[in-house]
Amino acid sequence: MELIRSTLNIGLEKPVKLLHVTDSHLAFADEHDDERKHKLAQRFHSAEKEKYLYEHIAYSKANCDALIHTGDLFDFVSHANTVKAREILSDAHIFFIAGNHEYSQYVGEAWEDKAYRMNSYMQIERDGGFGVPMLWNTRVVGGVNIVGIDNSYYLFEDWQIHRLKKESEKGLPIILAFHDPLFEQSLYDYHFEHSPAESCTYLTGVDEKHLERYSEFRAYQQRPDEPTLRMIEYIKSEPMIRAILTGHLHFSFESNITENLPQFVTGGGYDGCARELTII
Ligand SMILES: [Fe+2]
Repeated sequence: MELIRSTLNIGLEKPVKLLHVTDSHLAFADEHDDERKHKLAQRFHSAEKEKYLYEHIAYSKANCDALIHTGDLFDFVSHANTVKAREILSDAHIFFIAGNHEYSQYVGEAWEDKAYRMNSYMQIERDGGFGVPMLWNTRVVGGVNIVGIDNSYYLFEDWQIHRLKKESEKGLPIILAFHDPLFEQSLYDYHFEHSPAESCTYLTGVDEKHLERYSEFRAYQQRPDEPTLRMIEYIKSEPMIRAILTGHLHFSFESNITENLPQFVTGGGYDGCARELTII
């Protein structure tokens, strides 16, 4: 595994260590799954991805207070993946919030929106569920409030703003955990610089000016709606929110959303990447 180390200074009495892991992309199918899912599992499964995840878990349990997984733990919806998710996430050391692939039926075959997500969610529930919340999750670790929010289709929803405000009222410093990073100029520039052939940057909250470089499809897919813009404004203005942990991009990056709000993007867990965040 490849470990990145970062420090966040928010004046804690006692340090808290988190291992941030994202995008493990495990892929399994079993006798309950159809042939297309078996083909996907053959194509995307690798023993290495699984080995890295278990290395991350072992390292975190030995060295950190919690492992924060920001989604795409699995590559697509299958009975086998749901069973495996339940097994992995039954370990109370791991905090989880879903990414886009958690709801993907056949990886990029359909237009993915709230209805699509709900259909997949109900299928996962039918198979017994992940055993942990997927759309919203919170946990206090050593005096830090970890708040996981599903923004996997580049959107936030008003109920999430309402619940986040309730969390802020608890008076503890908040670390946000969600799959898709927020727009930030240097991250946007870095993405296009390193992947000039890409037709988008896969960020949440990209304004019309910056969407101009996107293909028509990607602009439509990733354009923020009103609740999303409201949520981003709230995140930027809420002093209790001290950092954001995200993934989705499969590369690591660190920048500031506002003067006092860093955003940590961590590279693909499938590739061994993890970030140890020491909060002091
Ligand atoms: Fe993703």
